[in-house]
Amino acid sequence: MKLWGGRFTKETNELVNAFNASISFDQRFYRQDIEGSIAHATGLASHGIISAGERDGIIDGLKGILSDIDSGRLIISDEYEDIHSFVEATLTTRIGETGKKLHTGRSRNDQVALDMKLYIRDEILEMDSLLAELLETIIGIMESNLETYMPGFTHLQKAQPLTLAHHMGAYFEMFKRDRLRLKDTYHRMNLSPLGSGALAGTTYPIDRNETASLLGFDGPTLNSMDSVSDRDYLLEFLSGMSIIMMHLSRFSEEIIIWNSNEYRFIELDDAFSTGSSIMPQKKNPDIAELVRGKTGRVYGSLMSLLTTMKALPLAYNKDMQEDKELTFDALDTTKACIRLFNGMIKTMGFNKDVMLRSTKGGFTNATDAADYLVNKGVAFRDAHGIVGELVLFCIEHKKTLDEMTLEEYKAISPVFEKDIYEAISIETCVKRRETLGAPGIQSMGHVIRINRQYLEDN
Ligand code: ARG
Repeated sequence: MKLWGGRFTKETNELVNAFNASISFDQRFYRQDIEGSIAHATGLASHGIISAGERDGIIDGLKGILSDIDSGRLIISDEYEDIHSFVEATLTTRIGETGKKLHTGRSRNDQVALDMKLYIRDEILEMDSLLAELLETIIGIMESNLETYMPGFTHLQKAQPLTLAHHMGAYFEMFKRDRLRLKDTYHRMNLSPLGSGALAGTTYPIDRNETASLLGFDGPTLNSMDSVSDRDYLLEFLSGMSIIMMHLSRFSEEIIIWNSNEYRFIELDDAFSTGSSIMPQKKNPDIAELVRGKTGRVYGSLMSLLTTMKALPLAYNKDMQEDKELTFDALDTTKACIRLFNGMIKTMGFNKDVMLRSTKGGFTNATDAADYLVNKGVAFRDAHGIVGELVLFCIEHKKTLDEMTLEEYKAISPVFEKDIYEAISIETCVKRRETLGAPGIQSMGHVIRINRQYLEDN
């Protein structure tokens, strides 16, 4: 069952076999292993290292193995050390001696580097399309909530009024950057390690450009030692996923707050919330909490791989086999979180009246009251002080700024006229904020058009 053994006189200890084996998890990329082998066999034949007949026999055999694994007729056996051993041994069983020529000029070191890259390339594309779907949901909420008012917060204290469209727009930008990061990683990693051998290339006259282009790479890597020991792209991918999860965790935290009895800004769909076994009144935001929680797990994978790679001498070392389980776990987790999160926000409702009431309380229009005074010729620092006095008055008399009488205003500053009420209405506060990137209706509409175009192009 082994690809090696010639120089050994003893059987491997059973515990060592189990400890060393990777087939339980590297069988995930059986398809990529076979695609890589097909390209390798093609390259070997192009330069007369194997005959055209041998190439065809190998490729037919490999295609048969692929379709049998796909259909479930061939079960990947854990008696083998790894997926590479399984495929090669199955090929030789099926097509005979020619199968033994497949590994000419190749090592499992460049083979595994290739397989993992091919697999991760597909995963990056899938994650990118999940993010595109999430962005689609977010922009939909933005488009229908240009005039849904809510308080904006700093320090979790009400700060200034804005709109739901604007708040959602912040997350749109975050996930848009996440997609750009994935794209960057993809382009940087898209160079083929095949043909690097164990670490020093090979003596056979293979053309690495040929196999690179057969496999859709932009070209081959330029140093064989680096090729078999580079895991930078996994670190970049893990870091990209960690940032996606960080963004999801911030959004989740807000959903948890908005769903609390004290806020009641949102109504989670029954299909995306859970209950309590003892407290019948509960409707819990478990999905948001789990996404928040799983963020730690993805960060953990990033830290694990950074630590595994730290101080590893060139070139391949078995430590690197540890890259797989943690990367797979992180990508399964991140994909599930994006999917579930998207479903949750797509189905959640907004209590717009509660949000408006909350915007009107808490003096979110205090800055606008100060700006009103500035427009009447008061210096901003003085205006800030006057409005501070207004707020103190309101707190003492349990009022909001728009509930104060004009006499009360004038008692604090004679500059106030009856147009103050219009100036500090929530609608005015938002509508007058028309700088690019601000919540004003025109400005938001402009940004939404830019982002719609972005979604169409990407
Ligand atoms: N399972 C190994 C890994 O994931 C494959 C490469 C094995 N190479 C070796 N020299 N033992 O890294």
